[in-house]
Amino acid sequence: MTPDAFSTYIEGCRERFESALRQRLPDENLQPTRLHAAMRYSALAPGKRVRPILVYATGQSLGVAPERLDAAAVAVELIHAFSLVHDDLPAMDNDDLRRGIPTCHKAFDEATAILAGDALQTLAFQVLCQDHGETSATTRLRMLELLAQASGSRGMAGGQTLDMEAEGRELALPQLENIHIHKTGALIRACVRMACLIDEAQPQERKERLDHYAKCVGLAFQIRDDILDVESDTDSLGKTQGKDQISRKATYPSLLGLAGAREKAGALVNDALVSLHDLGPEADPLRRLAEYIVSRNR
Ligand code: IPE
Ligand code: IPE
Ligand code: MG
Ligand code: MG
Ligand code: MG
Repeated sequence: MTPDAFSTYIEGCRERFESALRQRLPDENLQPTRLHAAMRYSALAPGKRVRPILVYATGQSLGVAPERLDAAAVAVELIHAFSLVHDDLPAMDNDDLRRGIPTCHKAFDEATAILAGDALQTLAFQVLCQDHGETSATTRLRMLELLAQASGSRGMAGGQTLDMEAEGRELALPQLENIHIHKTGALIRACVRMACLIDEAQPQERKERLDHYAKCVGLAFQIRDDILDVESDTDSLGKTQGKDQISRKATYPSLLGLAGAREKAGALVNDALVSLHDLGPEADPLRRLAEYIVSRNR
Protein backbone atom coordinates (compact mmCIF):
# COMPACT_ATOMS: atom_id res chain seq x y z
CA MET A 1 0.00 0.00 0.00
CA THR A 2 1.58 3.31 -1.10
CA PRO A 3 1.57 6.34 1.25
CA ASP A 4 -1.01 7.98 -1.05
CA ALA A 5 -3.27 4.95 -0.97
CA PHE A 6 -3.04 4.90 2.83
CA SER A 7 -3.92 8.62 3.04
CA THR A 8 -6.94 8.00 0.82
CA TYR A 9 -7.89 5.02 2.96
CA ILE A 10 -7.80 6.94 6.25
CA GLU A 11 -9.62 9.92 4.75
CA GLY A 12 -12.36 7.55 3.58
CA CYS A 13 -12.62 6.05 7.08
CA ARG A 14 -12.75 9.51 8.68
CA GLU A 15 -15.52 10.69 6.38
CA ARG A 16 -17.56 7.57 6.92
CA PHE A 17 -17.00 7.82 10.68
CA GLU A 18 -17.83 11.55 11.00
CA SER A 19 -21.15 11.02 9.28
CA ALA A 20 -21.98 8.01 11.51
CA LEU A 21 -21.05 10.04 14.60
CA ARG A 22 -23.07 13.12 13.61
CA GLN A 23 -26.17 10.99 13.09
CA ARG A 24 -25.91 9.51 16.56
CA LEU A 25 -25.18 12.65 18.61
CA PRO A 26 -28.25 14.42 20.03
CA ASP A 27 -29.22 17.58 18.13
CA GLU A 28 -28.15 20.91 19.65
CA ASN A 29 -31.74 22.14 19.57
CA LEU A 30 -32.89 19.28 21.74
CA GLN A 31 -33.28 20.00 25.48
CA PRO A 32 -31.07 20.38 27.46
CA THR A 33 -29.42 22.37 24.69
CA ARG A 34 -26.32 23.43 26.63
CA LEU A 35 -25.43 19.82 27.48
CA HIS A 36 -25.99 18.68 23.90
CA ALA A 37 -23.93 21.60 22.59
CA ALA A 38 -21.05 20.59 24.90
CA MET A 39 -21.25 16.94 23.81
CA ARG A 40 -21.17 17.92 20.13
CA TYR A 41 -18.43 20.50 20.74
CA SER A 42 -16.05 17.91 22.16
CA ALA A 43 -16.98 14.85 20.10
CA LEU A 44 -17.02 16.66 16.74
CA ALA A 45 -13.82 18.66 17.34
CA PRO A 46 -11.11 17.63 14.87
CA GLY A 47 -9.57 14.55 16.47
CA LYS A 48 -7.38 12.20 14.49
CA ARG A 49 -10.01 9.40 14.77
CA VAL A 50 -7.32 6.77 15.20
CA ARG A 51 -9.62 4.45 17.17
CA PRO A 52 -12.46 4.34 14.60
CA ILE A 53 -9.90 3.89 11.80
CA LEU A 54 -8.47 0.96 13.74
CA VAL A 55 -11.94 -0.59 13.96
CA TYR A 56 -12.44 -0.26 10.18
CA ALA A 57 -8.90 -1.44 9.36
CA THR A 58 -9.31 -4.54 11.54
CA GLY A 59 -12.66 -5.24 9.88
CA GLN A 60 -11.05 -4.86 6.46
CA SER A 61 -8.32 -7.35 7.38
CA LEU A 62 -11.06 -9.88 8.21
CA GLY A 63 -13.38 -9.08 5.30
CA VAL A 64 -16.09 -7.48 7.49
CA ALA A 65 -18.18 -4.82 5.69
CA PRO A 66 -17.74 -1.25 7.04
CA GLU A 67 -21.54 -0.89 7.60
CA ARG A 68 -21.25 -3.54 10.28
CA LEU A 69 -18.48 -1.60 12.06
CA ASP A 70 -20.01 1.88 12.31
CA ALA A 71 -21.63 1.38 15.73
CA ALA A 72 -18.41 -0.01 17.26
CA ALA A 73 -16.37 2.81 15.70
CA VAL A 74 -18.72 5.46 17.09
CA ALA A 75 -18.92 3.79 20.51
CA VAL A 76 -15.15 3.65 21.08
CA GLU A 77 -14.66 7.22 19.90
CA LEU A 78 -17.45 8.42 22.22
CA ILE A 79 -15.69 6.74 25.15
CA HIS A 80 -12.44 8.34 24.02
CA ALA A 81 -14.08 11.80 23.72
CA PHE A 82 -15.54 11.40 27.23
CA SER A 83 -12.12 10.39 28.59
CA LEU A 84 -10.53 13.50 27.08
CA VAL A 85 -13.18 15.86 28.50
CA HIS A 86 -12.61 14.45 31.99
CA ASP A 87 -8.81 14.15 31.56
CA ASP A 88 -8.66 17.91 30.87
CA LEU A 89 -10.66 18.93 33.97
CA PRO A 90 -8.91 20.97 36.68
CA ALA A 91 -9.12 17.98 39.04
CA MET A 92 -7.13 15.92 36.56
CA ASP A 93 -4.64 17.34 34.01
CA ASN A 94 -6.09 20.87 34.11
CA ASP A 95 -5.68 21.68 30.42
CA ASP A 96 -7.05 24.67 28.52
CA LEU A 97 -6.59 23.48 24.95
CA ARG A 98 -7.77 20.31 23.20
CA ARG A 99 -7.90 19.53 19.48
CA GLY A 100 -6.88 23.13 18.81
CA ILE A 101 -9.83 24.71 20.65
CA PRO A 102 -10.58 25.52 24.33
CA THR A 103 -11.26 22.43 26.46
CA CYS A 104 -14.89 21.64 27.25
CA HIS A 105 -14.80 23.12 30.77
CA LYS A 106 -13.22 26.34 29.39
CA ALA A 107 -15.71 26.73 26.54
CA PHE A 108 -18.66 25.84 28.81
CA ASP A 109 -18.10 25.31 32.56
CA GLU A 110 -16.90 22.52 34.81
CA ALA A 111 -20.29 21.11 35.72
CA THR A 112 -21.31 20.99 32.06
CA ALA A 113 -18.02 19.31 31.13
CA ILE A 114 -18.46 16.63 33.80
CA LEU A 115 -22.01 15.96 32.64
CA ALA A 116 -21.09 16.05 28.94
CA GLY A 117 -18.42 13.43 29.67
CA ASP A 118 -20.97 11.30 31.55
CA ALA A 119 -23.48 11.57 28.72
CA LEU A 120 -20.90 10.81 26.00
CA GLN A 121 -19.99 7.68 27.90
CA THR A 122 -23.56 6.42 28.26
CA LEU A 123 -24.29 7.31 24.63
CA ALA A 124 -21.49 4.92 23.62
CA PHE A 125 -23.35 2.00 25.18
CA GLN A 126 -26.70 3.18 23.82
CA VAL A 127 -25.25 3.26 20.28
CA LEU A 128 -24.10 -0.36 20.59
CA CYS A 129 -27.51 -1.43 21.94
CA GLN A 130 -29.34 0.29 19.09
CA ASP A 131 -27.28 -1.27 16.29
CA HIS A 132 -29.99 -3.46 14.82
CA GLY A 133 -28.06 -4.53 11.72
CA GLU A 134 -26.92 -8.06 10.94
CA THR A 135 -24.99 -8.41 14.19
CA SER A 136 -26.70 -10.79 16.61
CA ALA A 137 -27.89 -9.71 20.06
CA THR A 138 -25.39 -12.12 21.64
CA THR A 139 -22.49 -10.56 19.77
CA ARG A 140 -23.66 -7.06 20.68
CA LEU A 141 -23.84 -8.08 24.33
CA ARG A 142 -20.23 -9.34 24.10
CA MET A 143 -19.18 -6.06 22.54
CA LEU A 144 -20.92 -4.09 25.31
CA GLU A 145 -19.13 -6.09 27.98
CA LEU A 146 -15.80 -5.73 26.22
CA LEU A 147 -16.15 -1.96 25.90
CA ALA A 148 -17.36 -1.61 29.51
CA GLN A 149 -14.37 -3.56 30.78
CA ALA A 150 -11.91 -1.62 28.64
CA SER A 151 -13.30 1.71 29.90
CA GLY A 152 -13.78 0.88 33.55
CA SER A 153 -11.77 0.45 36.73
CA ARG A 154 -9.74 -2.43 35.23
CA GLY A 155 -9.16 -0.50 32.03
CA MET A 156 -9.01 3.19 31.09
CA ALA A 157 -10.48 4.65 34.32
CA GLY A 158 -8.15 2.45 36.37
CA GLY A 159 -5.17 3.59 34.30
CA GLN A 160 -6.16 7.21 34.75
CA THR A 161 -6.24 6.64 38.54
CA LEU A 162 -2.73 5.18 38.46
CA ASP A 163 -1.56 8.08 36.26
CA MET A 164 -2.84 10.63 38.79
CA GLU A 165 -1.31 8.72 41.72
CA ALA A 166 2.06 8.60 39.92
CA GLU A 167 2.37 12.39 39.54
CA GLY A 168 5.63 13.55 41.12
CA ARG A 169 6.78 10.00 41.82
CA GLU A 170 9.61 8.05 40.26
CA LEU A 171 8.35 4.80 38.85
CA ALA A 172 10.06 1.67 37.63
CA LEU A 173 9.47 0.74 34.00
CA PRO A 174 6.96 -2.09 34.69
CA GLN A 175 4.77 0.30 36.71
CA LEU A 176 4.86 2.92 33.99
CA GLU A 177 4.03 0.32 31.37
CA ASN A 178 1.11 -0.81 33.51
CA ILE A 179 -0.29 2.75 33.58
CA HIS A 180 0.00 3.20 29.82
CA ILE A 181 -1.44 -0.23 29.01
CA HIS A 182 -4.52 0.66 31.04
CA LYS A 183 -5.11 4.38 30.49
CA THR A 184 -4.64 4.22 26.70
CA GLY A 185 -3.89 0.66 25.61
CA ALA A 186 -7.13 -0.88 26.87
CA LEU A 187 -9.39 1.20 24.63
CA ILE A 188 -7.15 0.76 21.60
CA ARG A 189 -7.17 -2.98 22.19
CA ALA A 190 -10.97 -2.87 22.44
CA CYS A 191 -11.15 -1.38 18.91
CA VAL A 192 -9.52 -4.49 17.45
CA ARG A 193 -11.32 -6.94 19.69
CA MET A 194 -14.76 -5.49 18.93
CA ALA A 195 -14.13 -5.77 15.19
CA CYS A 196 -12.99 -9.37 15.72
CA LEU A 197 -16.17 -10.20 17.64
CA ILE A 198 -18.34 -9.26 14.66
CA ASP A 199 -16.92 -12.07 12.56
CA GLU A 200 -17.57 -15.06 14.77
CA ALA A 201 -16.17 -17.52 12.21
CA GLN A 202 -12.58 -16.23 12.39
CA PRO A 203 -10.05 -18.78 13.73
CA GLN A 204 -9.15 -18.15 17.37
CA GLU A 205 -5.45 -18.03 16.53
CA ARG A 206 -5.95 -15.16 14.09
CA LYS A 207 -7.92 -13.21 16.71
CA GLU A 208 -5.10 -13.77 19.21
CA ARG A 209 -2.53 -12.44 16.76
CA LEU A 210 -4.65 -9.37 16.12
CA ASP A 211 -5.02 -8.90 19.85
CA HIS A 212 -1.24 -9.00 20.20
CA TYR A 213 -0.95 -6.41 17.42
CA ALA A 214 -3.41 -4.19 19.33
CA LYS A 215 -1.57 -4.54 22.65
CA CYS A 216 1.70 -3.44 21.04
CA VAL A 217 0.12 -0.58 19.12
CA GLY A 218 -1.84 0.63 22.18
CA LEU A 219 1.30 0.99 24.28
CA ALA A 220 3.26 2.50 21.37
CA PHE A 221 0.48 5.08 20.92
CA GLN A 222 0.88 6.45 24.46
CA ILE A 223 4.70 6.37 24.21
CA ARG A 224 4.44 8.53 21.07
CA ASP A 225 2.01 10.84 22.92
CA ASP A 226 4.62 11.22 25.69
CA ILE A 227 7.37 11.91 23.12
CA LEU A 228 5.28 14.52 21.31
CA ASP A 229 4.61 16.31 24.60
CA VAL A 230 8.39 16.87 24.80
CA GLU A 231 9.41 17.52 21.22
CA SER A 232 6.40 18.93 19.37
CA ASP A 233 4.72 22.32 19.74
CA THR A 234 1.32 23.50 20.93
CA ASP A 235 0.12 24.52 17.45
CA SER A 236 0.84 21.14 15.87
CA LEU A 237 -0.53 19.17 18.83
CA GLY A 238 -3.66 21.25 19.38
CA LYS A 239 -2.96 20.82 23.12
CA THR A 240 -0.43 22.50 25.39
CA GLN A 241 3.06 21.13 24.78
CA GLY A 242 5.28 20.48 27.80
CA LYS A 243 2.45 19.80 30.23
CA ASP A 244 3.80 16.42 31.34
CA GLN A 245 6.99 17.93 32.71
CA ILE A 246 5.10 20.75 34.45
CA SER A 247 2.74 18.22 36.07
CA ARG A 248 5.66 15.87 36.81
CA LYS A 249 3.91 13.03 35.02
CA ALA A 250 5.42 9.58 34.76
CA THR A 251 6.28 9.25 31.06
CA TYR A 252 8.55 7.17 28.82
CA PRO A 253 10.88 10.08 27.95
CA SER A 254 11.21 10.97 31.64
CA LEU A 255 12.25 7.40 32.43
CA LEU A 256 14.15 6.28 29.32
CA GLY A 257 15.07 9.57 27.65
CA LEU A 258 13.79 10.55 24.20
CA ALA A 259 16.03 8.11 22.32
CA GLY A 260 15.08 5.25 24.64
CA ALA A 261 11.37 6.05 24.32
CA ARG A 262 11.64 6.16 20.51
CA GLU A 263 13.46 2.86 20.48
CA LYS A 264 10.81 1.24 22.64
CA ALA A 265 7.97 2.53 20.42
CA GLY A 266 9.79 1.30 17.30
CA ALA A 267 10.34 -2.15 18.80
CA LEU A 268 6.65 -2.41 19.70
CA VAL A 269 5.60 -1.57 16.16
CA ASN A 270 7.96 -4.20 14.74
CA ASP A 271 6.43 -6.71 17.13
CA ALA A 272 2.93 -5.64 16.02
CA LEU A 273 3.87 -6.08 12.34
CA VAL A 274 5.25 -9.58 12.95
CA SER A 275 1.92 -10.66 14.41
CA LEU A 276 0.21 -9.77 11.08
CA HIS A 277 2.47 -12.05 9.06
CA ASP A 278 -0.24 -14.58 8.19
CA LEU A 279 -2.44 -11.86 6.68
CA GLY A 280 -2.20 -10.65 3.10
CA PRO A 281 -2.62 -7.18 1.55
CA GLU A 282 -6.05 -6.88 3.20
CA ALA A 283 -4.11 -6.10 6.41
CA ASP A 284 -2.03 -3.32 4.82
CA PRO A 285 -4.12 -0.56 6.45
CA LEU A 286 -3.34 -2.14 9.85
CA ARG A 287 0.35 -2.25 8.96
CA ARG A 288 0.49 1.37 7.82
CA LEU A 289 -1.56 2.45 10.84
CA ALA A 290 0.98 0.91 13.22
CA GLU A 291 3.77 2.82 11.48
CA TYR A 292 1.74 6.03 11.48
CA ILE A 293 1.11 5.71 15.22
CA VAL A 294 4.82 5.97 16.06
CA SER A 295 5.73 8.54 13.40
CA ARG A 296 2.75 10.93 13.70
CA ASN A 297 3.36 14.56 14.55
CA ARG A 298 0.15 15.24 16.39
C1 IPE B 1 -5.01 11.63 23.18
O1 IPE B 1 -5.53 10.78 22.22
C2 IPE B 1 -5.09 10.99 24.51
C3 IPE B 1 -4.34 9.74 24.61
C4 IPE B 1 -4.91 8.63 24.94
C5 IPE B 1 -2.91 9.75 24.37
P1 IPE B 1 -5.45 11.13 20.67
O2 IPE B 1 -4.04 11.51 20.32
O3 IPE B 1 -6.06 10.00 19.89
O4 IPE B 1 -6.37 12.44 20.57
P2 IPE B 1 -7.34 12.94 19.41
O5 IPE B 1 -8.53 12.06 19.44
O6 IPE B 1 -6.61 12.83 18.10
O7 IPE B 1 -7.67 14.35 19.79
C1 IPE C 1 -4.76 10.52 28.55
O1 IPE C 1 -3.40 10.56 28.58
C2 IPE C 1 -5.29 9.18 28.45
C3 IPE C 1 -6.77 9.22 28.54
C4 IPE C 1 -7.41 8.20 28.96
C5 IPE C 1 -7.52 10.42 28.17
P1 IPE C 1 -2.80 12.04 28.53
O2 IPE C 1 -3.25 12.84 29.68
O3 IPE C 1 -1.34 11.91 28.27
O4 IPE C 1 -3.52 12.59 27.18
P2 IPE C 1 -3.31 14.06 26.64
O5 IPE C 1 -1.82 14.23 26.43
O6 IPE C 1 -3.88 14.99 27.64
O7 IPE C 1 -4.05 14.04 25.32
MG1 MG D 1 -3.88 12.51 31.61
MG1 MG E 1 -3.99 14.89 29.62
MG1 MG F 1 -0.23 13.12 26.96
